[in-house]
Amino acid sequence: MKAYRASLLYFDPVSEGQAHARFESDGLLVVGPDVRGVHVVQAVGAYQQLRDQYVGVSTTHFPGRILAPGFVDMHVHYPQTNVIGSPADGLLPWLENHTFPEEQRFEAPDYCADAASFFVDELLRNGVTTALTFATSHPESVHALFSAAQRSHLRLMTGLCLMDRNAPAQVLNRSTNDSSADATEQSLIVSEALIQRWHGKGRLGYAITPRFAPSCSDAQLAGAGVLAAKYPEVWIQSHVAENKDEIAWARRLFPHSRSYLATYADFGLMRPRSVYAHCIHFDDDDRALMRDTGAAAAVCPTSNLFLGSGFFDYAGADRVGCSYGLASDVGGGTSFSPFHTMLAAYYVAREGQSKQGLSLTPQQLWWQHTAGAAQAMGLDGVVGNLLPGCEADFVVLNPQATPLLARKTARAANLDELLFAMVVLGDDRLIERTVISQSDAPIQQRTDGR
Ligand code: GUN
Ligand code: ZN
Repeated sequence: MKAYRASLLYFDPVSEGQAHARFESDGLLVVGPDVRGVHVVQAVGAYQQLRDQYVGVSTTHFPGRILAPGFVDMHVHYPQTNVIGSPADGLLPWLENHTFPEEQRFEAPDYCADAASFFVDELLRNGVTTALTFATSHPESVHALFSAAQRSHLRLMTGLCLMDRNAPAQVLNRSTNDSSADATEQSLIVSEALIQRWHGKGRLGYAITPRFAPSCSDAQLAGAGVLAAKYPEVWIQSHVAENKDEIAWARRLFPHSRSYLATYADFGLMRPRSVYAHCIHFDDDDRALMRDTGAAAAVCPTSNLFLGSGFFDYAGADRVGCSYGLASDVGGGTSFSPFHTMLAAYYVAREGQSKQGLSLTPQQLWWQHTAGAAQAMGLDGVVGNLLPGCEADFVVLNPQATPLLARKTARAANLDELLFAMVVLGDDRLIERTVISQSDAPIQQRTDGR
């Protein structure tokens, strides 16, 4: 058992969509192994109240620092680290001119290994401790990322990118010489083998990953749906309703579905633990479909602003009751920093505010990138918070990290002002350290899918 004394930021256990932050200016966070040997929070609260129960427990004191839950990134592409900041006239030319040429390099195992270890380090440097991540269509890209995440004990979900049409051959799924299966069948066979190899190993999870409907044949989406039904505890990730040209294309390819989003439901790809990035151009029937199937939206504000895709409709999502959380979407997104993402989400909601009267509070923004994102992905009570039982992933924030941060945070009159100062001025310099839950047990197959 170990204890940490510092200011503490965490969230009340709440029902759907709520965000109520708790702040202890002089707090104690006690961490120790649970029955599985995984280090979880044992106690959290005021130092004066808890100290007598934990005398003798080795305690690290972080004066002037704030401990907060590790951030949860609901949608990020590890093969796109080098693509950040590549301008284009919208999503489809950006994919063609910048993204596919970079992703084709992931055919080489060494390239994958180097990119994966840089990516994992960058997540941790920015305080991200859980990530639902795209790889490429090359199986080696998936192995490389799982291996890097395993070495760092990161909680990470990824999977083979399914794309068997409408892109250059070098980034499409391929059949192997020693198999009679075609590329589509092979992509599904490999996905299942990867589920068996990686899902539930320590903190790793598999995500069935059709890139987006326009890059997948009917047969591939149908096969992905079969896998999703066979393995209900694995995640599903894809993109939807990001860009007007993309939507028109998806509607031409799948004219029988009610909407672009409904295409995924028609192939059995909407259920709890399915996460759809963007979800911008929705109607209320789409929002109801998200709600009724238990799917979640990954809101990607820096990406949507950079590519000019549009503005996530927070008021619409709240009115209908579908769940969502925040995501960097690197490399359409411009930053790994959750602070940049939260600030961009604030801008997006302000834009919407002129139409819907909505303005996000800093507590809501922070919750959407921690406990709220965890809840949306089916990891409520597992990550994203510092309540007892949560895995002990946390960041050590230094509110004095820059002269301006020090000046602003010192003048904060209440919790919202303190959080807003960090949301607006924060970046990787605010993250003094990222602490990841350790496991005393050897990494083993778990059966609960977590
Ligand atoms: N739609 C299909 N692929 C992608 C991708 O890599 N990034 C984004 N932002 N949208 C996509
Ligand atoms: Zn994406």
